[in-house]
Amino acid sequence: MSATATDHVRIFDTTLRDGEQSPGCSMTTPQKLLMASMLADLGVDVIEAGFAAASPDDFHAVSSIAKQVRGSSVAALARCQRNDIERAAAALEHAQAPRIHIFIATSDLHLEHKLRMTRQQVLDSIVEHVTLARSLCADVEFSAEDASRSDLGFLVQALELAIEHGATTLNIPDTVGYAVPAEYGALFAHLKANVRGIERAVLSSHCHDDLGLAVANSLAAIENGARQVECTINGIGERAGNASMEEIVMALRTRPQHFGTQTRIRTQKLYPASRQLIAVTGSVIARNKAIVGENAFAHESGIHQHGMLRNRATYEIMSPEDVGVSRSSLVLGKHSGRAALSDRLKQLGFELDEASLNQAFAAFKTLADRKKEVFDADLESIAMGARGDE
Ligand code: KIV
Ligand code: ZN
Repeated sequence: MSATATDHVRIFDTTLRDGEQSPGCSMTTPQKLLMASMLADLGVDVIEAGFAAASPDDFHAVSSIAKQVRGSSVAALARCQRNDIERAAAALEHAQAPRIHIFIATSDLHLEHKLRMTRQQVLDSIVEHVTLARSLCADVEFSAEDASRSDLGFLVQALELAIEHGATTLNIPDTVGYAVPAEYGALFAHLKANVRGIERAVLSSHCHDDLGLAVANSLAAIENGARQVECTINGIGERAGNASMEEIVMALRTRPQHFGTQTRIRTQKLYPASRQLIAVTGSVIARNKAIVGENAFAHESGIHQHGMLRNRATYEIMSPEDVGVSRSSLVLGKHSGRAALSDRLKQLGFELDEASLNQAFAAFKTLADRKKEVFDADLESIAMGARGDE
C-alpha cells in the first residue's frame, strides 16, 4: 500500500538525542554527522539532532547536522525555557526544514516532585513557550512529558493550548514505559475525539521499553490515529531503550491490510543503518533481535530448513533482502537435516550419490554433536571422505 501525502506514518528518529542519552551510546559530532546522513538516506521524515542548550558540543552537533542534512526535517529539543528555545532556533538556523521540539511534563507526579509547579503554571508556560517557539520556527512540536501517567482532562487542556498557540505536532510520550497497548491506543482514540483543533496537528507516539512494550504501544497508537512515531535505530535509548524503528517499519510493511498505512522508509537500508550504529557506538544487539539481529533470518532446525528449501514463506514472513540482509542462512548444526546438508554441499560443488550422502550425513551429525556450528571447511572434508577422495 502506498503512503499518501496526508496519511503516511512519519518517522521521527531520535537516535541522536534520546538514543545518544543512554549509557554506552554517546557519539562525537563527526559520528553524529555520519549517522545523520545515513538517516536521511533511509528516508526518515524528522531527525532529532540533539538538545542544543545542553552544552556547546551539543549545540555544535545540532548546527552541523542542520547545515548538512537535506531531504529530512531537523529537530532540536528544548525545555519550556526561553534560553533553550532560542539556542534551539540558533542551532537550526541553516536547516532546510527546521523543527523546534519543546516539552514540559504534565503528570502530577512530575509537577510536584520535579518541576514544583502548579497545573496553572504549566499551562501558562505552554502558552508562553509554544508562542515563542512559533515566532522563531514554522514547525513546532509540543511534547507532554509523562503523558501516559497524566490526568486525562489536564492533558487535553495542555494539548488544546499548544495547538491554539501554534504547535503543529503533538507528542504523547510514555516516558517511563508504563503503558500497555490497549490503554495507550485508547488514549490516542480519546485525544483524537476530544482535543479541540486536533485536525490541525499530527498526533505522535514516543514509547520507552521498560516493560518491553515500546513497539507494541507505538503500533497501538498508529491503529488509533498517530501519524508520527518517535523511535531509534536498534531501539537504543534511556534505560531499556526507545521503540525500535526497524521493528515498527517492518510491522507496517509486513501487515499492510491490518494497519492500512505505511512509512516512507527505504527498508533495504535498515540493516546497514543498524550495523553502522553498532560500529559507531560499539553497543551490540542480541543475536535474536527482530529484523536486524544475526539470527533474524537464520534457520537451524532440520524441519525449518527443509521447508525453507521448498518455499521460503514456510518460515519467513519477510525477505531478508527487504531489510538489506543479503540472504537467509541455513546454519548447519546438530538440528539440521539431510536436505540442508545436501543443498550446502551442492553449493560447495559436491554432487554426492545417495550412498555417499548417507555417509556424509552420518559424519556430519557426529561432528555437529561435538561442535556448535559446522563450517564449510568441515563439510568439504566430510564430502571428500564420503566420496572416497584421497
Ligand atoms: O521520554 C520522553 O518523555 C522524552 C521527551 C523529551 C519527548 O524523551
Ligand atoms: Zn524519551
